[in-house]
Amino acid sequence: MPCLSLRGTRFSAAWETTSYGQQGKLASETLNAQALRQIDAQTGGLTPGIFPSTTYVRDSDYELIDPGHSYGRDENPGFVVAEKVLAELEGGEAGLLFSSGMSAAMAIIQSLKPGDRIVAPRIMYWGLRKWLVVFCEQWGLALDLFDPSAPDALARTVEQAKTRLLWMESPCNPTWDVIDISAAADVAQGAGATLVVDSTIPT
Ligand SMILES: Cc1ncc(COP(=O)(O)O)c(C=O)c1O
Repeated sequence: MPCLSLRGTRFSAAWETTSYGQQGKLASETLNAQALRQIDAQTGGLTPGIFPSTTYVRDSDYELIDPGHSYGRDENPGFVVAEKVLAELEGGEAGLLFSSGMSAAMAIIQSLKPGDRIVAPRIMYWGLRKWLVVFCEQWGLALDLFDPSAPDALARTVEQAKTRLLWMESPCNPTWDVIDISAAADVAQGAGATLVVDSTIPT
């Protein structure tokens, strides 16, 4: 599943609050392999259970029994653990799982406002490029595509007009080029833009 990882302060790990094993001493690789060691209190199971439930019980006042769980799509306990593991692996602040790469892309693009500007490479996943070219205008979004092989094209395009979102891929589809994410982040940060790195292709 594609993961959107929001970079920032590191996720505060849940295993610190569990009382089993030697949680504090385990390497992060081990903790991630064990899904942050969120041991099931009832059974001692080392991996989180699977929750097929879509909806959750409410009382006679229609209040949720557990306010933390209202619907399976966004709060499935198994997905939440997977999001935390992925955020931890990425050194991100949080993770969100989507059922497809395009749905993750749409969630990000739908967070923009009319008038916002997106900068993206000319060579990228054709499906998203087509969506951007066809639909940006009718959503009131400005789009600039740059030639990724031209030196300084990225920086020049981002600086030309106020950019809200710099969309990059790594590895790129279809070239599998790996970009310098740190350099792209510097360009985005310098322009006050948010950098997105779409890594759907290797997933
Ligand atoms: C870079 C990139 N982004 C997005 C997608 C779309 O992913 P999905 O087919 O899961 O919607 C793809 C699919 O190949 C991709 O390569």
